[in-house]
Amino acid sequence: MKILGIESSCDETAAAVVEDGRKVLSNVIASSLEEHKLYGGVVPEIASRRHAESISGVVREALENADCTMKDIDAVAVTYAPGLIGALLVGVNFAKGLALASDKPLVPVHHIRGHIASNYISGDVEPPFLCLIVSGGHSHIVAVRSYTDFEIIGRTRDDAAGEALDKAGRTMGLEYPGGVSIDRLSPQGDENAFKFPKPKVSSSEYDFSFSGLKTAVINTIHNAQQKNIEINTADLAASFQKAVVDCLVTNLEKAACDRGFNKIVIAGGVSANSRLRSESKRLCAKHKWQLFLPELKYCGDNAAMIASQGYYEFIGGTIAGEDLNAYATMPIDKNYKTD
Ligand code: KG4
Ligand code: ZN
Repeated sequence: MKILGIESSCDETAAAVVEDGRKVLSNVIASSLEEHKLYGGVVPEIASRRHAESISGVVREALENADCTMKDIDAVAVTYAPGLIGALLVGVNFAKGLALASDKPLVPVHHIRGHIASNYISGDVEPPFLCLIVSGGHSHIVAVRSYTDFEIIGRTRDDAAGEALDKAGRTMGLEYPGGVSIDRLSPQGDENAFKFPKPKVSSSEYDFSFSGLKTAVINTIHNAQQKNIEINTADLAASFQKAVVDCLVTNLEKAACDRGFNKIVIAGGVSANSRLRSESKRLCAKHKWQLFLPELKYCGDNAAMIASQGYYEFIGGTIAGEDLNAYATMPIDKNYKTD
């Protein structure tokens, strides 16, 4: 079964064809990132306009690269939530038109479920497993019971890990996205140069809080500026990255031990982070747990992961009605219309 996936939740316009949820036949991404860098973050209206300009070409290229026409496609899967609403609407409406014109079923896909599926196209992992999802907008620990059954075990109470890295990076004067810049700079710094407080979250033992850490970095920079003291940015980047990854891995370890999981999956844009990758390998080696990480090319937003998850949603019976809408927020454990 061949699924055409379409993704437009943030600044990547993407389309891909994936066979049987696992075999990527094509994967095309057009990004407006360079334009957003000028503003230090994604500008929603620019993202929407770039999606509108590039979506037809991106979908055409994805079909051509897969050696397909719409006749060969079994269903169109599209990201409908969560994300920037104007950006999502471009993909959703394009997918609706395409599905109607070609008389194909339309499958709504949750963006974060898609990030988890980036592991299905990278390796041979199957649910159940425990997943740490870390992106620009989400930091979750989720028990993935089946391809379409999710239980949230921990979540961030404030900033997502990627968001905190991006904001801290901006204050350090690094290029957007800060998460990528911090990862690149950290090997040149001393990760023990700055000590940051371990955030305590009382409401749930598996929840995260990154805004205090982020503020601690920003205060360190502002204090140094006021006192005219020069800070080594590489030291600060390495220390902050260590603090963020420590929080992620500590809660992941606790959740896996308490809930009895021995299969661990990492997903989301921050899963590209070299320290998170090495620390999760260390953790899983210590406990003799199986670890699955997405290939680097599938860590960030792409449509192959949407087509993969779309396949599992489709065979599970999820098909969008004609009234499919886009949503800026949507919990990962909520199924389309059935809840
Ligand atoms: O999943 P994603 O592409 O978009 C969302 O769904 O949010 O994640 C983007 C986030 C950004 O915050 C970016 O800084 C972060 O992923 N990111 C990284 C790395 N690559 C991307 N953070 C740390 N290290 C990286 N190598
Ligand atoms: Zn994403």
